[in-house]
Amino acid sequence: MISRRDFSRLLAMSGSMLLPQQLSAWPAPLAQTPRGPDERFWLSVRDQFLMPPALSVMNAANLCPSPAPVLEAMYRSTRDMDGDPSFDNRQKMSTGKEEARRLLARDLRVTPEEIVIARNTSEANNMVSSGLDLKAGDEVVICADNHPSNNSAWMQKAKRFGYTVTVIKQPNPHPGAEYFVEAATRAITSRTRVLAFTHQTSTAGDVLPANELCRLARERGVLTLVDGASAYGLFDVDLSEMQPDFYTGSAHKWPCGPKEVGVLFVSSRAQQSIHPSIISAYPGAVGISRTLEAIGQRDEPAIIGFGEAVVFQTKIGRKVIEERSRSLAQALIAGLRRIDGVQLWTHPDPARSGAVVTFRPGSLDIPKLSAALYKNDRIGCATRTGSDRPGIRFSPHIYNTMAEVDRAIAAIAKYMKQGV
Ligand SMILES: Cc1ncc(COP(=O)(O)O)c(C=O)c1O
Repeated sequence: MISRRDFSRLLAMSGSMLLPQQLSAWPAPLAQTPRGPDERFWLSVRDQFLMPPALSVMNAANLCPSPAPVLEAMYRSTRDMDGDPSFDNRQKMSTGKEEARRLLARDLRVTPEEIVIARNTSEANNMVSSGLDLKAGDEVVICADNHPSNNSAWMQKAKRFGYTVTVIKQPNPHPGAEYFVEAATRAITSRTRVLAFTHQTSTAGDVLPANELCRLARERGVLTLVDGASAYGLFDVDLSEMQPDFYTGSAHKWPCGPKEVGVLFVSSRAQQSIHPSIISAYPGAVGISRTLEAIGQRDEPAIIGFGEAVVFQTKIGRKVIEERSRSLAQALIAGLRRIDGVQLWTHPDPARSGAVVTFRPGSLDIPKLSAALYKNDRIGCATRTGSDRPGIRFSPHIYNTMAEVDRAIAAIAKYMKQGV
């Protein structure tokens, strides 16, 4: 009997005639989300993923697995493309790419003309920092905990183009929404052209007041770049309400889509300010994608898979997903707070945090602890070493269960007591 875990091997066998849904243990389509989704429903969501039940990976801020319908969509399109790679046959791939754009736009509540399908958040962030006309005398305001694809990029390009960078500090614990609004108000001057911040940080899991910061920047004539790598696919992101100029995300993180696909939203009002920094063939069909997305041959089956990931998450429900991931994170926070010696970096107030939970496990050796969690307890996490908020990061998502959260808390309690 072929198990659905054999699917990954099957994908590698180009000549196989089986479709994944023909495998005996391939999951049935996901049921409709019930009114009050209970643990049984979430176990059925978990069943859509290939991870064996004993393995608990809580690392959505880094990389998420894709559910069965996404794998199927990619497999179907890849088979089709590799079975007949002619231009004539691949015409339909462009249609699939535009459908993915339409689905992303609907999900984010913007227009397809404002969506660029990038390769990841890093590329999308850099499309912005390389694509704006910035020169000596201009200023860019960034937040300290932004990812290197944001902050290191702005800093390096500042040396080349002559603009200056102002950094807003991110104290720990999260000092509250007002802090960020006041700090940005102070940092923005008449020379400021861009405010770049992260919707939910991957460091301490701080959630920034995105709507308020974008409003402030709009009022001051400043463009906003909001890094949504740890927010899109987790939060119910409504860009029509937030109104950033640029918003970025990766399919392979919280949206549970294919690897190496991402999204860049460019508001219609910001479109005249940005130039393409990669110029090649095969642009998108509408709006800003006609210039910014001409970045050469793409993996269209992966882009089509991104559309399918949006369909899958829409079926579960955006608000339901956010509530679930938040409640898993809240349970983790509550459990970790009860363990002597654990120091949380993530603020427990759901107004200040989402579903990224980081903490210092006393004086335990962090890489050793992470290795022990994986080897002995089958728990996958991320680590942060160095002197700035070192520790373990758990970022739970829809494929994790409350039982896994309990297991993680018990494992940390065990190692805090006995060492690693
Ligand atoms: C906040 C943030 N921005 C950007 C990135 C880069 O994402 P990617 O590696 O998908 O380009 C990450 C990755 O962890 C991130 O956490």
